[in-house]
Amino acid sequence: MADTYLVTGGMGCIGAWALYHLQRRGQRAVNFDLSTDRHRIDWLMSADEQAAITFVQGDLRDTDALKAVFADYSVTRVIHLAALQVPFCRANPVLGAEVNVTGTVNIFEAARANGVGHIAFASSIGVYGPPSDFPPGLIPHDAPKNPRTLYGAYKVCNEQTAQVYNEENGITSTALRPYTVYGVGRDQGMTSEPTKALVAAAKGQPYKIPFSGEMQFQWASDVARQFILAAEQPLDGARGFNLGGPPSTVARFVEITEAALPGVEIEVAENPLPFPAGFDDSALRASFNTVYETPLEEGIAETIAHIQRLGDEI
Ligand SMILES: NC(=O)c1ccc[n+]([C@@H]2O[C@H](COP(=O)([O-])OP(=O)(O)OC[C@H]3O[C@@H](n4cnc5c(N)ncnc54)[C@H](O)[C@@H]3O)[C@@H](O)[C@H]2O)c1
Repeated sequence: MADTYLVTGGMGCIGAWALYHLQRRGQRAVNFDLSTDRHRIDWLMSADEQAAITFVQGDLRDTDALKAVFADYSVTRVIHLAALQVPFCRANPVLGAEVNVTGTVNIFEAARANGVGHIAFASSIGVYGPPSDFPPGLIPHDAPKNPRTLYGAYKVCNEQTAQVYNEENGITSTALRPYTVYGVGRDQGMTSEPTKALVAAAKGQPYKIPFSGEMQFQWASDVARQFILAAEQPLDGARGFNLGGPPSTVARFVEITEAALPGVEIEVAENPLPFPAGFDDSALRASFNTVYETPLEEGIAETIAHIQRLGDEI
Protein backbone atom coordinates (compact mmCIF):
# COMPACT_ATOMS: atom_id res chain seq x y z
CA MET A 1 0.00 0.00 0.00
CA ALA A 2 1.21 3.52 -0.77
CA ASP A 3 2.61 5.52 2.10
CA THR A 4 0.63 8.27 3.79
CA TYR A 5 2.74 11.09 5.16
CA LEU A 6 1.53 13.00 8.20
CA VAL A 7 3.01 16.50 8.36
CA THR A 8 2.32 18.41 11.56
CA GLY A 9 2.65 22.17 11.27
CA GLY A 10 2.22 22.21 7.50
CA MET A 11 0.80 25.72 7.63
CA GLY A 12 4.23 26.82 8.88
CA CYS A 13 7.32 27.54 6.84
CA ILE A 14 9.18 24.21 6.75
CA GLY A 15 5.90 22.28 6.77
CA ALA A 16 4.54 24.14 3.75
CA TRP A 17 7.72 23.27 1.86
CA ALA A 18 7.41 19.64 2.98
CA LEU A 19 3.85 19.53 1.62
CA TYR A 20 5.07 21.16 -1.60
CA HIS A 21 7.73 18.48 -2.18
CA LEU A 22 5.41 15.62 -1.22
CA GLN A 23 2.72 16.92 -3.57
CA ARG A 24 5.23 17.28 -6.43
CA ARG A 25 6.32 13.69 -5.89
CA GLY A 26 2.71 12.51 -5.95
CA GLN A 27 2.77 11.31 -2.33
CA ARG A 28 -0.33 11.15 -0.19
CA ALA A 29 0.02 13.87 2.46
CA VAL A 30 -2.08 14.80 5.46
CA ASN A 31 -1.46 18.13 7.14
CA PHE A 32 -2.32 18.46 10.84
CA ASP A 33 -2.25 22.03 12.08
CA LEU A 34 -4.18 24.19 14.49
CA SER A 35 -4.13 27.01 11.99
CA THR A 36 -6.27 27.18 8.87
CA ASP A 37 -4.28 30.11 7.50
CA ARG A 38 -2.87 28.84 4.20
CA HIS A 39 -0.87 31.92 3.25
CA ARG A 40 2.48 30.11 3.17
CA ILE A 41 1.06 27.19 1.23
CA ASP A 42 -0.57 29.65 -1.19
CA TRP A 43 2.89 31.08 -1.85
CA LEU A 44 4.12 27.62 -2.90
CA MET A 45 1.20 25.84 -4.54
CA SER A 46 -1.81 26.53 -6.73
CA ALA A 47 -5.31 25.67 -5.50
CA ASP A 48 -5.30 22.59 -7.79
CA GLU A 49 -2.02 21.36 -6.31
CA GLN A 50 -3.34 21.91 -2.78
CA ALA A 51 -6.41 19.84 -3.62
CA ALA A 52 -4.21 16.72 -3.52
CA ILE A 53 -3.44 17.33 0.18
CA THR A 54 -5.72 16.41 3.08
CA PHE A 55 -6.01 19.26 5.58
CA VAL A 56 -6.98 18.38 9.12
CA GLN A 57 -7.41 21.15 11.65
CA GLY A 58 -6.40 19.96 15.09
CA ASP A 59 -4.47 20.71 18.21
CA LEU A 60 -1.25 18.88 18.96
CA ARG A 61 -2.26 18.98 22.63
CA ASP A 62 -5.24 16.73 21.88
CA THR A 63 -4.03 13.13 22.26
CA ASP A 64 -7.24 11.58 20.93
CA ALA A 65 -7.36 13.83 17.89
CA LEU A 66 -3.84 12.80 16.93
CA LYS A 67 -4.54 9.11 17.48
CA ALA A 68 -7.63 9.46 15.29
CA VAL A 69 -5.66 11.11 12.47
CA PHE A 70 -3.09 8.30 12.47
CA ALA A 71 -5.91 5.73 12.34
CA ASP A 72 -8.31 7.49 9.96
CA TYR A 73 -5.68 8.12 7.29
CA SER A 74 -3.53 5.01 7.87
CA VAL A 75 -0.45 7.15 8.46
CA THR A 76 2.83 5.40 7.69
CA ARG A 77 5.37 8.27 7.66
CA VAL A 78 5.56 11.07 10.20
CA ILE A 79 7.17 14.50 9.82
CA HIS A 80 6.46 16.31 13.08
CA LEU A 81 7.19 20.01 12.76
CA ALA A 82 4.41 21.84 14.62
CA ALA A 83 5.76 23.84 17.54
CA LEU A 84 5.82 27.26 19.09
CA GLN A 85 9.03 29.15 18.39
CA VAL A 86 11.37 30.99 20.79
CA PRO A 87 9.41 34.27 21.20
CA PHE A 88 6.09 32.43 21.68
CA CYS A 89 7.53 30.06 24.32
CA ARG A 90 9.06 33.02 26.10
CA ALA A 91 5.74 34.92 26.06
CA ASN A 92 3.69 31.94 27.22
CA PRO A 93 5.85 29.21 28.81
CA VAL A 94 2.91 27.01 29.84
CA LEU A 95 1.40 26.96 26.37
CA GLY A 96 4.89 26.45 24.97
CA ALA A 97 5.36 23.36 27.12
CA GLU A 98 1.92 22.04 26.26
CA VAL A 99 2.46 22.35 22.52
CA ASN A 100 6.17 21.56 22.25
CA VAL A 101 6.55 18.97 25.02
CA THR A 102 3.13 17.36 25.51
CA GLY A 103 2.42 17.71 21.78
CA THR A 104 5.51 15.67 20.95
CA VAL A 105 4.63 13.04 23.56
CA ASN A 106 1.22 12.86 21.86
CA ILE A 107 2.88 12.16 18.50
CA PHE A 108 4.80 9.24 20.02
CA GLU A 109 1.64 7.99 21.75
CA ALA A 110 -0.34 8.13 18.51
CA ALA A 111 2.47 6.29 16.72
CA ARG A 112 2.56 3.65 19.44
CA ALA A 113 -1.23 3.20 19.39
CA ASN A 114 -1.22 2.78 15.62
CA GLY A 115 1.89 0.65 15.15
CA VAL A 116 3.92 3.35 13.38
CA GLY A 117 7.55 2.53 14.06
CA HIS A 118 9.45 5.66 13.06
CA ILE A 119 9.14 9.42 13.46
CA ALA A 120 11.08 12.33 12.00
CA PHE A 121 10.77 15.47 14.04
CA ALA A 122 12.14 18.97 14.35
CA SER A 123 14.59 19.75 17.08
CA SER A 124 16.76 22.86 16.87
CA ILE A 125 20.27 24.15 17.41
CA GLY A 126 18.52 25.93 20.28
CA VAL A 127 19.25 22.77 22.31
CA TYR A 128 22.80 24.10 22.69
CA GLY A 129 23.97 26.88 24.94
CA PRO A 130 25.83 30.05 23.91
CA PRO A 131 29.29 30.11 22.28
CA SER A 132 30.92 30.48 25.71
CA ASP A 133 29.90 26.85 26.43
CA PHE A 134 32.14 25.53 23.66
CA PRO A 135 35.69 25.63 22.37
CA PRO A 136 36.10 27.37 18.99
CA GLY A 137 35.09 25.39 15.90
CA LEU A 138 32.05 23.50 14.69
CA ILE A 139 29.88 21.95 17.41
CA PRO A 140 29.54 18.14 17.09
CA HIS A 141 26.08 16.56 17.01
CA ASP A 142 26.57 14.94 20.42
CA ALA A 143 27.94 18.03 22.23
CA PRO A 144 26.46 18.78 25.68
CA LYS A 145 23.04 20.39 25.54
CA ASN A 146 22.55 23.16 28.08
CA PRO A 147 19.98 25.46 26.48
CA ARG A 148 19.31 28.91 27.92
CA THR A 149 15.82 29.31 26.46
CA LEU A 150 12.64 27.46 27.37
CA TYR A 151 12.24 26.64 23.69
CA GLY A 152 15.65 24.94 23.75
CA ALA A 153 14.81 23.14 26.99
CA TYR A 154 11.59 21.82 25.42
CA LYS A 155 13.51 20.60 22.37
CA VAL A 156 16.02 18.77 24.63
CA CYS A 157 13.03 17.18 26.34
CA ASN A 158 11.70 16.09 22.91
CA GLU A 159 15.00 14.40 22.09
CA GLN A 160 15.04 12.67 25.47
CA THR A 161 11.41 11.64 25.06
CA ALA A 162 12.38 10.05 21.75
CA GLN A 163 15.16 8.08 23.48
CA VAL A 164 12.75 6.67 26.03
CA TYR A 165 10.16 5.71 23.41
CA ASN A 166 12.91 3.92 21.56
CA GLU A 167 14.08 2.02 24.62
CA GLU A 168 10.62 1.19 25.96
CA ASN A 169 8.57 0.83 22.78
CA GLY A 170 11.10 0.28 20.00
CA ILE A 171 9.98 3.36 18.06
CA THR A 172 12.91 4.79 16.12
CA SER A 173 13.20 8.50 15.46
CA THR A 174 15.33 11.08 13.75
CA ALA A 175 15.50 14.61 15.12
CA LEU A 176 16.96 17.24 12.82
CA ARG A 177 18.28 20.50 14.26
CA PRO A 178 18.02 23.40 11.83
CA TYR A 179 19.80 26.70 12.41
CA THR A 180 18.72 29.82 10.48
CA VAL A 181 16.15 28.68 7.94
CA TYR A 182 15.40 31.15 5.16
CA GLY A 183 13.14 31.18 2.14
CA VAL A 184 9.61 32.04 1.12
CA GLY A 185 7.33 31.37 4.09
CA ARG A 186 9.88 32.21 6.78
CA ASP A 187 7.94 35.11 8.24
CA GLN A 188 7.94 34.44 11.99
CA GLY A 189 10.43 33.43 14.67
CA MET A 190 13.63 35.00 15.89
CA THR A 191 15.80 34.11 12.91
CA SER A 192 13.22 35.05 10.27
CA GLU A 193 14.86 38.50 9.91
CA PRO A 194 17.19 37.67 6.97
CA THR A 195 14.17 36.42 4.98
CA LYS A 196 12.18 39.53 5.93
CA ALA A 197 15.11 41.57 4.61
CA LEU A 198 14.99 39.59 1.34
CA VAL A 199 11.28 40.28 0.94
CA ALA A 200 11.79 44.01 1.56
CA ALA A 201 14.81 44.15 -0.74
CA ALA A 202 13.04 42.31 -3.57
CA LYS A 203 10.34 44.97 -3.33
CA GLY A 204 12.93 47.76 -3.38
CA GLN A 205 12.38 48.70 0.28
CA PRO A 206 15.13 49.31 2.89
CA TYR A 207 15.42 46.97 5.90
CA LYS A 208 17.42 46.66 9.11
CA ILE A 209 18.28 43.20 10.43
CA PRO A 210 18.39 43.53 14.23
CA PHE A 211 21.25 41.06 14.71
CA SER A 212 24.63 40.25 13.26
CA GLY A 213 27.16 37.49 13.56
CA GLU A 214 28.20 34.13 12.25
CA MET A 215 25.66 31.42 11.56
CA GLN A 216 24.60 28.72 9.11
CA PHE A 217 21.81 29.51 6.67
CA GLN A 218 19.61 26.68 5.45
CA TRP A 219 17.11 27.04 2.63
CA ALA A 220 13.61 25.98 3.70
CA SER A 221 13.21 23.85 0.57
CA ASP A 222 16.36 21.86 1.43
CA VAL A 223 15.37 21.51 5.10
CA ALA A 224 11.94 20.17 4.14
CA ARG A 225 13.45 17.58 1.81
CA GLN A 226 15.86 16.47 4.55
CA PHE A 227 12.90 15.93 6.89
CA ILE A 228 11.10 13.87 4.23
CA LEU A 229 14.21 11.72 3.78
CA ALA A 230 14.55 11.35 7.55
CA ALA A 231 10.95 10.09 7.68
CA GLU A 232 11.56 7.65 4.84
CA GLN A 233 14.87 6.19 5.98
CA PRO A 234 14.67 5.02 9.59
CA LEU A 235 17.98 4.59 11.36
CA ASP A 236 18.64 2.57 14.48
CA GLY A 237 17.62 4.13 17.76
CA ALA A 238 16.64 7.70 18.52
CA ARG A 239 19.08 9.88 16.63
CA GLY A 240 19.62 13.62 16.60
CA PHE A 241 21.53 15.50 13.90
CA ASN A 242 22.68 19.04 13.39
CA LEU A 243 21.90 20.47 10.00
CA GLY A 244 25.05 22.22 8.84
CA GLY A 245 26.35 23.85 5.72
CA PRO A 246 29.18 26.30 5.39
CA PRO A 247 29.34 28.79 8.28
CA SER A 248 28.47 32.25 7.03
CA THR A 249 27.52 35.64 8.45
CA VAL A 250 24.54 37.95 8.36
CA ALA A 251 26.83 40.44 6.60
CA ARG A 252 27.56 37.87 3.87
CA PHE A 253 23.83 37.15 3.47
CA VAL A 254 23.28 40.87 2.95
CA GLU A 255 26.25 41.17 0.57
CA ILE A 256 24.84 38.40 -1.66
CA THR A 257 21.40 40.01 -1.58
CA GLU A 258 22.74 43.45 -2.43
CA ALA A 259 24.77 42.01 -5.31
CA ALA A 260 21.64 40.33 -6.67
CA LEU A 261 19.54 43.47 -6.25
CA PRO A 262 21.77 46.47 -6.97
CA GLY A 263 20.64 49.63 -5.20
CA VAL A 264 18.93 47.97 -2.23
CA GLU A 265 19.92 49.00 1.28
CA ILE A 266 19.97 46.47 4.11
CA GLU A 267 21.47 47.49 7.42
CA VAL A 268 22.79 45.01 9.97
CA ALA A 269 22.66 45.95 13.67
CA GLU A 270 25.88 45.18 15.58
CA ASN A 271 24.27 42.62 17.87
CA PRO A 272 25.50 39.02 17.59
CA LEU A 273 22.95 36.30 18.42
CA PRO A 274 23.90 34.17 21.45
CA PHE A 275 24.41 31.03 19.36
CA PRO A 276 27.59 29.28 18.27
CA ALA A 277 28.77 30.10 14.75
CA GLY A 278 28.38 26.65 13.27
CA PHE A 279 27.42 23.04 13.79
CA ASP A 280 29.11 19.98 12.42
CA ASP A 281 26.87 17.90 10.15
CA SER A 282 29.32 15.04 9.49
CA ALA A 283 27.10 12.59 11.40
CA LEU A 284 24.16 13.50 9.14
CA ARG A 285 26.33 13.02 6.07
CA ALA A 286 27.54 9.65 7.35
CA SER A 287 23.96 8.48 7.97
CA PHE A 288 22.15 9.68 4.85
CA ASN A 289 23.29 9.31 1.28
CA THR A 290 21.77 12.69 0.41
CA VAL A 291 22.22 15.95 2.24
CA TYR A 292 20.30 18.80 0.63
CA GLU A 293 22.51 21.84 0.62
CA THR A 294 21.79 24.47 -2.01
CA PRO A 295 24.61 27.05 -2.01
CA LEU A 296 23.60 30.29 -0.29
CA GLU A 297 23.98 32.36 -3.48
CA GLU A 298 21.62 30.02 -5.31
CA GLY A 299 19.08 29.80 -2.46
CA ILE A 300 18.97 33.58 -2.16
CA ALA A 301 18.60 33.99 -5.94
CA GLU A 302 15.77 31.42 -6.02
CA THR A 303 14.07 33.16 -3.10
CA ILE A 304 14.33 36.60 -4.70
CA ALA A 305 12.90 35.24 -7.96
CA HIS A 306 10.10 33.54 -6.02
CA ILE A 307 9.26 36.74 -4.12
CA GLN A 308 9.24 38.69 -7.38
CA ARG A 309 6.90 36.12 -9.00
CA LEU A 310 4.53 36.48 -6.04
CA GLY A 311 4.52 40.28 -6.38
CA ASP A 312 1.81 41.84 -4.24
CA GLU A 313 0.77 38.44 -2.83
CA ILE A 314 3.70 38.44 -0.39
N1 LIG B 1 12.59 28.00 11.07
C1 LIG B 1 13.76 27.80 11.69
O1 LIG B 1 14.74 28.50 11.47
C2 LIG B 1 13.88 26.66 12.66
C3 LIG B 1 15.10 26.46 13.28
C4 LIG B 1 15.21 25.41 14.17
C5 LIG B 1 14.14 24.58 14.42
N2 LIG B 1 12.95 24.80 13.81
C6 LIG B 1 11.83 23.92 14.12
O2 LIG B 1 11.25 23.42 12.91
C7 LIG B 1 9.84 23.28 13.06
C8 LIG B 1 9.11 24.03 12.00
O3 LIG B 1 9.54 25.39 12.02
P1 LIG B 1 8.78 26.50 11.15
O4 LIG B 1 9.75 27.63 10.98
O5 LIG B 1 8.18 25.88 9.97
O6 LIG B 1 7.65 26.95 12.20
P2 LIG B 1 6.38 27.87 12.01
O7 LIG B 1 6.26 28.70 13.24
O8 LIG B 1 6.42 28.57 10.69
O9 LIG B 1 5.17 26.84 11.96
C9 LIG B 1 4.75 26.12 13.07
C10 LIG B 1 3.36 25.57 12.80
O10 LIG B 1 2.92 24.86 13.96
C11 LIG B 1 1.52 25.10 14.10
N3 LIG B 1 1.10 24.90 15.46
C12 LIG B 1 1.38 25.68 16.53
N4 LIG B 1 0.73 25.22 17.62
C13 LIG B 1 0.03 24.12 17.24
C14 LIG B 1 -0.81 23.22 17.91
N5 LIG B 1 -1.10 23.36 19.21
N6 LIG B 1 -1.36 22.21 17.22
C15 LIG B 1 -1.10 22.06 15.89
N7 LIG B 1 -0.31 22.91 15.19
C16 LIG B 1 0.26 23.92 15.86
C17 LIG B 1 1.37 26.56 13.68
O11 LIG B 1 0.02 26.84 13.36
C18 LIG B 1 2.31 26.65 12.50
O12 LIG B 1 1.65 26.40 11.29
C19 LIG B 1 9.51 23.75 14.48
O13 LIG B 1 9.46 22.63 15.32
C20 LIG B 1 10.69 24.62 14.84
O14 LIG B 1 10.88 24.67 16.23
C21 LIG B 1 12.79 25.82 12.93
